Amino acid sequence: MYLKNAWYVAGWESHLDDGLLARTICDEPIVFFRGENGEVGALEDRCCHRSAPLSVGRLQGNEVECGYHGLRFDKTGQCTAIPTQELVPPGACVRSYPVVLKNRWIWIWMGEATQADESLIPDYFFKDSPDWATIDDYFYVKCNYQSYIDIQLDQSHSPFVHPDTLGNVAKLKVKPTVTREPRELKCERLFPNDDPPPLWAKAANIEGKGDSWNRWVYTPPASIMFDVGAAQAGTGAFEGNREHGITVHNAHAITPETATTTHHFWSNARDFGLNDPAMDEQLSVIRKVFREDVAICEAVQRRVNQFPDAPQIDVAMDHPTLQARNLLARLIEEESQSSAA
Ligand code: FES
Ligand SMILES: [Fe+2]
Repeated sequence: MYLKNAWYVAGWESHLDDGLLARTICDEPIVFFRGENGEVGALEDRCCHRSAPLSVGRLQGNEVECGYHGLRFDKTGQCTAIPTQELVPPGACVRSYPVVLKNRWIWIWMGEATQADESLIPDYFFKDSPDWATIDDYFYVKCNYQSYIDIQLDQSHSPFVHPDTLGNVAKLKVKPTVTREPRELKCERLFPNDDPPPLWAKAANIEGKGDSWNRWVYTPPASIMFDVGAAQAGTGAFEGNREHGITVHNAHAITPETATTTHHFWSNARDFGLNDPAMDEQLSVIRKVFREDVAICEAVQRRVNQFPDAPQIDVAMDHPTLQARNLLARLIEEESQSSAA
């Protein structure tokens, strides 16, 4: 079950540079394209004539031409031309999806088109702001998207999955504070007057103790934003004054492809060391960290596939991830009730 009346990231804008882009989202095959006029379209990837995938056709101007018998479709999904006849039969169309470009990502609305509301797309301004430097990537992950969301929201795995980079059992003593809102979940862990991570201490010129923080916002179904950083201790960073510190934002779009495969689009953004290749190099360790998440989640999926009905025990430290799952489950339940009504 997926939340349908919601925005999912389908790719980086740059993925449209090479013509037709085929991507399955929530088990639905979709073809994305950018016409000569610059407008982006997203169509059901199945021709209404003999079911050829439109993604193996061609982009012609602002339209997609099927690669089997040449029927053409505009971005609304309407068939506009058939090479062998003048008349386009009634009903010759494919489904089109609302699609929006924002912060260099392609966002698609998987539900009822009339309910698509752009204001629900999270604002990840740091992804395309000149005041931020980013490291960007895309991973294809062979696991369920909710278990991959779990690992992003769960910090208790760090000492075990990332022992060389993030591992710090002592920091786990600081319990997360979780705040639930109607369509958002927020989590905060603050480390006042503490030893900040060495990389942050160096970048922020922190002498002695620092105030560091780790916050995330989960926007169901599939978007997460992290706000982490450190400042000289006692300079008001927790209250919003970051003049004496540095900030890193991570944006994660964790889009279900199928029940057991996931698209992960991500950006790591920083407000220091802009245009500094050495800092890029130093922070590219984040890619290694995220690949460690991929490895454990794919290993878990293999066992779940083997033992799909095996029970799992929850422990106290799971409460942020359980709340995230509960929030999404409630939204899916509300959606199914309103569509049944
Ligand atoms: S299957 Fe597409 S034109 Fe025939
Ligand atoms: Fe991790």
